Amino acid sequence: MLRVLHISDTHLSPRKRHFEPNWAPLRAWIEAENPDLILHGGDVTVDGANDEDDFRFCAELFSNLRVPVLAVPGNHDVGEPRHLHQPVNSERLARWHRHLGPDYWCRDIEKWRLIGLNSQLLGSGRSEEKRQLDWLKTTMSEARRRRIAWFLHMPLFLEDPVEGDIGYWTVKPDARAPLLDLISMHQVALVATGHVHRLHDRHVGRTRYLWAPSSGFVCGPATQPPMPGVSRLGVVVYRFDGTEVEAEIKDVAGLTPYRIDDVIHEVYPPHDAL
Ligand SMILES: [Fe+2]
Ligand SMILES: [Fe+2]
Repeated sequence: MLRVLHISDTHLSPRKRHFEPNWAPLRAWIEAENPDLILHGGDVTVDGANDEDDFRFCAELFSNLRVPVLAVPGNHDVGEPRHLHQPVNSERLARWHRHLGPDYWCRDIEKWRLIGLNSQLLGSGRSEEKRQLDWLKTTMSEARRRRIAWFLHMPLFLEDPVEGDIGYWTVKPDARAPLLDLISMHQVALVATGHVHRLHDRHVGRTRYLWAPSSGFVCGPATQPPMPGVSRLGVVVYRFDGTEVEAEIKDVAGLTPYRIDDVIHEVYPPHDAL
């Protein structure tokens, strides 16, 4: 049996330390829990997409843990597909690679194949998007009898797999469609995501879609429209045992539920004010 900790949306930076006080209790909790592996669901940094120091800072924090960390990039780490001000591009991806390793990856544990994906490429039209999709198809088809779990930053959808474009919060429908095909073709058991800073756990068909909460901050009504799930902080502990998996949502003692609404003008000022 292997215990895998899924943390997400830490939003850490040496310059903007608004959520950094939550790292110490999270780190203490990780050390007490002593999992076999940590998965970070993205938005590791406040603004790694523009500031390499954010990555240096976070890589150092990770290297001080006694547990290996595998991370997938979030929008604040490597930018967004086709974004006007912070598009995902080779410079931003190279920054991620330099400090935190591959932006998509595969790890086999027990009778599972864990696949980390870079959701920020999806819909970008970049060559890296096609390369990732080709790699994903091969990696899935070579899974043989292993069960498959995906980890990526953006949820594929909020309520309905066939919903339209609802903006900032999910993968766009055109990029989502081939992924849904792969999910059903290979009976993906679990799709675990971050980004919305909410906990949500449900099945659609035979696939479990789990939104991991942030351990950095929550979103209030000024920054997030009504959507499924519960606004809270926490972490997810997975126990992979043979072909089975259990997921448990845990509170972390000492986390402060900062609200981004209260500090957004400092942490993420509007682009025209930068
Ligand atoms: Fe986030
Ligand atoms: Fe995000």
